[in-house]
Amino acid sequence: MSASLRPRRSVLYMPGINLRALEKAKTLATDCVIFDLEDSVAPDEKKAARAQVVSALKVGGYGRRELIIRTNGLTTPWGADDVIAAVEACADGILVPKVSSAEDIAAATRAMDDAGAPATMSLWAMIETPLAILNVKEIAQTVRLPASRLTTWILGTNDLAKETGAHLSDDRVPMLSWLSICVAAASAYDITIIDGVYNDFRNLDGFRNECIHGRSLGMDGKTLIHPTQIEPCNEIFSPDEDEVKQAREIIAAFDLPENSDKGVITLNGAMVERLHADMARRKLAVWQEIEKLSRDQVD
Ligand code: COA
Ligand code: MG
Repeated sequence: MSASLRPRRSVLYMPGINLRALEKAKTLATDCVIFDLEDSVAPDEKKAARAQVVSALKVGGYGRRELIIRTNGLTTPWGADDVIAAVEACADGILVPKVSSAEDIAAATRAMDDAGAPATMSLWAMIETPLAILNVKEIAQTVRLPASRLTTWILGTNDLAKETGAHLSDDRVPMLSWLSICVAAASAYDITIIDGVYNDFRNLDGFRNECIHGRSLGMDGKTLIHPTQIEPCNEIFSPDEDEVKQAREIIAAFDLPENSDKGVITLNGAMVERLHADMARRKLAVWQEIEKLSRDQVD
């Protein structure tokens, strides 16, 4: 989990060539939108998709949703122009596919700088190759470089399955160690980490279970492929009423004068340490940001 308070619970992909989806996103309660120019767009449609996405972002109407363009890889015929287009479109960030090393992050950062990207434009990286899993610390450490734009990782579980032969099973045992090592690296270097997609999008029970699993691993949110996945995802990745109530109780208990110098207290029959008060404060802050975002999307 990252310390960032910006809600990135729901991150909806859409093929850049799909005009109807680009339009519909303006009405959907997704925290972030990924306009895809990579895997969901056929080679013959790459240029048309790029032009359409730039034009949609320029026209606007997406409110406070965070707008990210997934470019093609920089070694492909389209990658460099995609980055230039994303800067022209004033996207909030670009998502680079198949990052495998710190050098890949450096190359993407250079491409953004060369295209004149403002300092506020962020870099997101797909973690989806076996090499990325092996180099996960090296990739995370690049956030400490002064020129870093890296804020967010997205797990590309379909590509990981393709490259390794690991199955995409409902219990996710084949990928568990990779998911967890990525959460550890992202947390150590304060990078937002977003879980992979659930392909069987008509199966909402299976989807819910995978969201709950992702949150229990420490993921900040989940990537989505269909509008019906947004609502359950937002619900599961938000603190619920009980959690908010409990967080308020913990903070209030430690604020009592008699507890001011205590490291550990008993609350409702359970041990609560000062670290739980820190967690409670963070949970409340996250919840307040989510409330703010929901209000803005209604207005
Ligand atoms: N973003 C925005 N809107 C979407 C959407 C998406 N990802 N997926 C579907 N919709 C819209 C449709 O346009 C349709 O809108 P309308 O009824 O108001 O016109 C509505 O949601 C229902 O769509 P539905 O008919 O159920 O789905 P579909 O059969 O048209 O499309 C997919 C199914 C999987 C092809 C489509 O959801 C999709 O392209 N998803 C994203 C794929 C992607 O980007 N992959 C790359 C990363 S893994
Ligand atoms: Mg991929």
